[in-house]
Amino acid sequence: MRNLLVTGGAGFIGSNFVRYLLDKYPDYRVVVYDKLTYAGNLDNLLDIQDDPRYTFVRGDICDVARVEAVVQEYDIDAIVNFAAETHVDRSLMQPGSFIQTDVYGTYVLLEAARKFGLERVHQVSTDEVYGQVLEGASLETDPLITRSPYSASKAAGDLMCLAYFTSFGVPVTITRGSNNIGPYQYPEKAVPLFITNAIDDIPLPLYGDGRQMRDYQYVLDHCEGIDVVLHQGVPGEIYNLGTSVETENIVMARLILDLLGKPHSLIQHVTDRPGHDRRYSLNCDKIAALGWRSRHSFEEALEKTVRWYVDNEWWWRKIKTGEYWEYYRRQYEGR
Ligand code: NAD
Ligand code: TYD
Repeated sequence: MRNLLVTGGAGFIGSNFVRYLLDKYPDYRVVVYDKLTYAGNLDNLLDIQDDPRYTFVRGDICDVARVEAVVQEYDIDAIVNFAAETHVDRSLMQPGSFIQTDVYGTYVLLEAARKFGLERVHQVSTDEVYGQVLEGASLETDPLITRSPYSASKAAGDLMCLAYFTSFGVPVTITRGSNNIGPYQYPEKAVPLFITNAIDDIPLPLYGDGRQMRDYQYVLDHCEGIDVVLHQGVPGEIYNLGTSVETENIVMARLILDLLGKPHSLIQHVTDRPGHDRRYSLNCDKIAALGWRSRHSFEEALEKTVRWYVDNEWWWRKIKTGEYWEYYRRQYEGR
């Protein structure tokens, strides 16, 4: 594997992964293929834009002809697929784009891999495909009991990957990661939304009682886990990636306010998200056997993340303008 196609590489995790790959593997060439939706942002890749090993191509993973042309032109060996619609709240407003990108788009990449005999398709998936887990922790073999259009679309993408492995021998691997936090996360997701609101003394909209639990992991830990599976994972297999420590949203919100020296009174309870999954939890024994475990505790990850947003207002202030606030109003007004 030398020539990697990183789809969705201009998004949050994808851009962190590209930077990580170029640092770690001096002989790799990385082609980022990204549609640049509202969540895609070339600012995320600004510091590597002059690296001769990196190329950016704007395109949609649903565009068969363009995907095939890029795979051929750059002599691609493997695809790492981050491209997706990713925000649960948006999936409740507009499910169609999730089905299109997360299901059909995944199929297009699998077909290209099959047609050109690629060495690997790695699918970046999520703990949300297991559905809420009120007790215990999800194993890779657990059933997928999804409850939101986002998680249902991601689950369908995963199942299509496994179908292509079984039916056509396409060498796929899948990772199911827990919630990521860190640099370059679009500030509509809870953690960067809360941090940037708190900096500006705007209330933090906490859904329901705020007692929902997530396993928040540092994005570079997740990238490292994806790298381990890409290079050592067994085709046809799924690997959970998380810290196995869950935190309540209200605890996360209070910690952000403490780190920024802001009052807890900025927390504003708002009407809960419909179908809100109460808790996710991953059993990560399988990936531990390959030598990976998350390096940052939740507190360390959150502290680094808060510091990055404090130091990089140039990045998020540009985003939190016109279209962003239109979405914000639609999402939070009257709640
Ligand atoms: P993101 O929303 O920040 O980025 C998604 C990227 O995909 C954007 O750059 C966007 O422009 C691009 N994209 C969207 N539709 C596309 C299409 N049709 N064709 C080409 N590009 C397209 O997402 P993220 O948080 O970086 O998540 C990346 C992947 O990781 C997703 O597959 C997501 O399901 C998965 N994941 C995310 C988390 C998390 O906490 N953020 C956790 C586990 C798994
Ligand atoms: P989010 O970042 O949207 O990730 P996901 O729903 O995919 O886990 O949300 C993380 C948690 O924070 C989730 O339990 C929903 C909650 N949340 C809020 O309380 N308020 C908000 O404004 C948002 C966006 C999320």
